[in-house]
Amino acid sequence: MRRKIIIDCDPGIDDAVALMLACASPEELEILAVTAVAGNVALGHTAANARRVLEACDRGDVPVYAGCPRPLLRPPVTADRIHGETGIDGSGLPPPTRPLADGHAVDLLRDTVRNAPGEVTVVAVGPLTNLAAVLVQRPEFAAEAREIVVMGGSAGPGNVTPHAEFNFHADPHAARIVFESGASLAMYGLNITHQVRVDDQVLGRIAALRSPPARAAAGMLERYRDSGGALHDVLAVGHLLRPDCFGLEAALVTIDTSETGRIGRSIVERGSGTNARVGFDAAAGEFLDFLLERLARY
Ligand code: RIB
Ligand code: CA
Repeated sequence: MRRKIIIDCDPGIDDAVALMLACASPEELEILAVTAVAGNVALGHTAANARRVLEACDRGDVPVYAGCPRPLLRPPVTADRIHGETGIDGSGLPPPTRPLADGHAVDLLRDTVRNAPGEVTVVAVGPLTNLAAVLVQRPEFAAEAREIVVMGGSAGPGNVTPHAEFNFHADPHAARIVFESGASLAMYGLNITHQVRVDDQVLGRIAALRSPPARAAAGMLERYRDSGGALHDVLAVGHLLRPDCFGLEAALVTIDTSETGRIGRSIVERGSGTNARVGFDAAAGEFLDFLLERLARY
C-alpha cells in the first residue's frame, strides 16, 4: 500500500533533498501536498523553494500551500548562513512557474487528515508551527494522523545553542504542543541525523548523475557540506522508505520552553513512559547507497 503523506518543510537544502527522495519513490509514497513554514529562510522563500524543487523533479502537480510566517511566540530566526539567502543556494533552479495552492497550510493539514482518519502521515522537517496551529484548533488531529515523523530536537547537544536544535529552538512552544498532543510520533534528532553526512565521496557520486534534480542536489550539497553536511530531513523521509536503516526506541520527550539559555531543548528519557519513538542508530552507508540509487532514477 502506498503511504499517503504531507511534507511540512522549510526548504532549506536538506529539506530539498528530502523532497527529491520522496518524489523518486512513487511506489511507496503518495505525496498529497507540501506545506511550507517559515524556518531556514522566510516563508516567501520556503514556499517558492518547495515549488522550485518539485518542478525540478517533474512533480509540479503536487500542491504547495503556504503556512505560518513566524513562530507562535518567539521572534523569527533563520539559518540563511547555512542554506544561503534564497534557502537553496547552489541549486541553480529557476523560480517556480506554478502558483501556490489556494488556502492556508494549516487548513489543508487539518482537513486532509480529518477526511482520511488513520491514513495520512505528516513528515515535519521544519519548525512545527503549522502542526501546532492545527492541534490547538483541532486536538483530534493527533489521533486522526496515522503518524507524524519529525526531524527536530536531539537526544544529545543542540546545533543552534549547546542545548537546542534549530527546528525546536525556532519554535519551542510549537514543539511542546506537538509532543504533548498524544500523536503517534517518530523523532529524528541531531543525535541520529549527524550520523548520515554528505562527504566528498558521496558528493562525487551525486555529481556524477546528470539529471536536473541530481545536478541541483550536487550544487546545494557542495555548499551545505561546509556546514557538516548532515542530511537531517532526508532521514525523516527515509523512515518511511527504509526503516531497516534506523534504530528507534520508545522514550518520553519533553521540550524546555523556559525563557532561559535552555529554551528549545528536548529532554529524552528512555524507559519512563513514552510519547515518541526516538531515533538513535543509523546504518549510514546503507542509507546513503539507497539515496544515491533513488536520485539515479531521475
Ligand atoms: O537542525 C536541522 C534542521 O533545521 C533541519 O530541518 C534543517 O533544514 C533546519 O530546518
Ligand atoms: Ca528543515
